Amino acid sequence: MEKEKLLFYNEYEEFYKMAETSVAFQRFCSDSFGQDFSQDGFSNIEQIDMILPYIPTTEDVHILDVGCGNGKMLGYLQKKTGAFIHGFDYSQKAITYARALFTQNADFNVGIIGEIEYPDNSFDVVISMDTMYFSQDMSAFVGQIKRWLKPDGILFVGYQEGELIPKTIDEYTTELAKALKNNGMSFEVRNITKQTYELLKTKREAAIIHKPEFENEGHMQWFDMLMMQTKWAEGSYQQFEKEMARYIYVAKK
Ligand SMILES: C[S@@+](CC[C@H](N)C(=O)[O-])C[C@H]1O[C@@H](n2cnc3c(N)ncnc32)[C@H](O)[C@@H]1O
Repeated sequence: MEKEKLLFYNEYEEFYKMAETSVAFQRFCSDSFGQDFSQDGFSNIEQIDMILPYIPTTEDVHILDVGCGNGKMLGYLQKKTGAFIHGFDYSQKAITYARALFTQNADFNVGIIGEIEYPDNSFDVVISMDTMYFSQDMSAFVGQIKRWLKPDGILFVGYQEGELIPKTIDEYTTELAKALKNNGMSFEVRNITKQTYELLKTKREAAIIHKPEFENEGHMQWFDMLMMQTKWAEGSYQQFEKEMARYIYVAKK
C-alpha cells in the first residue's frame, strides 16, 4: 500500500519534522507528560512507567513499539531496563531521527501496520500507545502481534475512544477488547478516563504557557492544533466521559 494515501501520513511527516527542532514543543511535552517523548496523545510518564514491571530483567530481552514515532519512549525504556529496542512507524522522518538518536541495541524500521512482518516468538513485550486504531483490521493485527510475542510475552496498549473511533459501552466492548478475545488473549484493563481528563487540562495549560515560544519559532499551527486537541478541558468531566474514554490493556499471549 502507498503510505502517502494512509490516514494522516503527511500530517505525521510534518509533525515529526516539527518535534525534532521545536524547543517549544519539547518543553510542552516535558511539562504536560513529565518527560518529552514527542507524544501525540496521552502517554504520560506514569503510563510509560507502568510498562516497566513487564520487561524481564534477564539477558536478551526484546521489546517492540508499534507506532514508535522518533523512538524516545523506547529510548527511555531501554535506559531503565537495558532491553534491545525495536520500533516501527510509517513516518520516514520519525524513523530517520530515531536511528540517529538510538544506535545501540536498537532496530528501527519504516513500516505500515498490517504489512510489516517480524519473525514469530521475537518479543518479550510489545507496546502500542495511541496507535492500534490506525489498523485497518485490528483482529488480524492482534493475531500478528500474538505470533511475534514469545510464549510468556505481553502486549501493553494505551487505547482511546471518542476521536478516531466511536466510544463504545465500556472497556470490554472496544474494538481492541474484541480483537483480543477473537485471538484468545486474556487481558486486564484499567480505565484511566478521569486521569486523562486531568491530563488534558495540564496539556492545555502547558500549551498556553509556551505559546510565545511557539510564536517565535513560527510554529503557531501546532499551538492551534494543541488548542483544538484539548478543547475538552474547557467542559465538564461528565461531558468528557460521555464522549471519550481511555484504557490501558495488558494482554497475555
Ligand atoms: C497518535 S500517534 C502516537 C505516537 C506515540 N506512540 C505516542 O504515544 O505519542 C500515532 C503514531 O502511529 C503512526 N502511524 C499512524 N498510522 C500508521 C500506520 N498505518 N502504520 C504505521 N504507523 C502509523 C504515526 O506516525 C504516529 O507515530
